[in-house]
Amino acid sequence: MVSTHYASVHAIASDYYPADILRVWSPVPDETRQEWLASLIVNDSTLCGVAVATTGRVVGFCIALPAQSQLKALYVHPEFSNHGIGSGLLRNMEACCLANDVDELELNASYNAESFYRKNGYEKVRETTQKLADGSEMGAILMIKCLMRSPDNTSKRTH
Ligand SMILES: CC(C)(COP(=O)(O)OP(=O)(O)OC[C@H]1O[C@@H](n2cnc3c(N)ncnc32)[C@H](O)[C@@H]1OP(=O)(O)O)[C@@H](O)C(=O)NCCC(=O)NCCS
Repeated sequence: MVSTHYASVHAIASDYYPADILRVWSPVPDETRQEWLASLIVNDSTLCGVAVATTGRVVGFCIALPAQSQLKALYVHPEFSNHGIGSGLLRNMEACCLANDVDELELNASYNAESFYRKNGYEKVRETTQKLADGSEMGAILMIKCLMRSPDNTSKRTH
């Protein structure tokens, strides 16, 4: 999962953010990175979905914090992008969140992922920033989607 995170950020987001941001967003995979990811997901209050190839290789993953109605992470390895894996992980996570009584999900989309989330039903709320591990910040877009199956499927919030 850590390797997928690294490959995905450095391949897919590199046209949108400078190298110093990418380095802090996703440092070279090592034991510290594995511990960081483990600490995120080894927690009863976290939902985590993983896409695995028939070879056993992890090709993507998705993490959500239902108590905060927040999608925390979605990464697909660049060798497997544009095959519907990201959308599939997202759809499954939305269903899990609904089953956990979460009626809307928000996320900080990186610039490269804005159109992906739009196509998957998320609306832009506003420009924002995402804090990185070293205290610096990267630009992002706060987006939200109402998960309830209401007739027009619009968000309850006013933006
Ligand atoms: C954003 C991200 C998760 C999308 O993952 P993905 O698996 O490539 O997403 P999908 O394949 O479901 O959708 C991507 C595109 O493929 C198309 N697509 C979907 N299913 C497809 C299929 N079966 N065959 C061909 N193309 C398909 C979609 O229409 C979409 O088109 P677009 O390029 O015009 O937007 C991935 O690009 C990524 O990891 N990015 C870097 C990390 C990142 O920024 N994560 C988000 C942090 S907020």
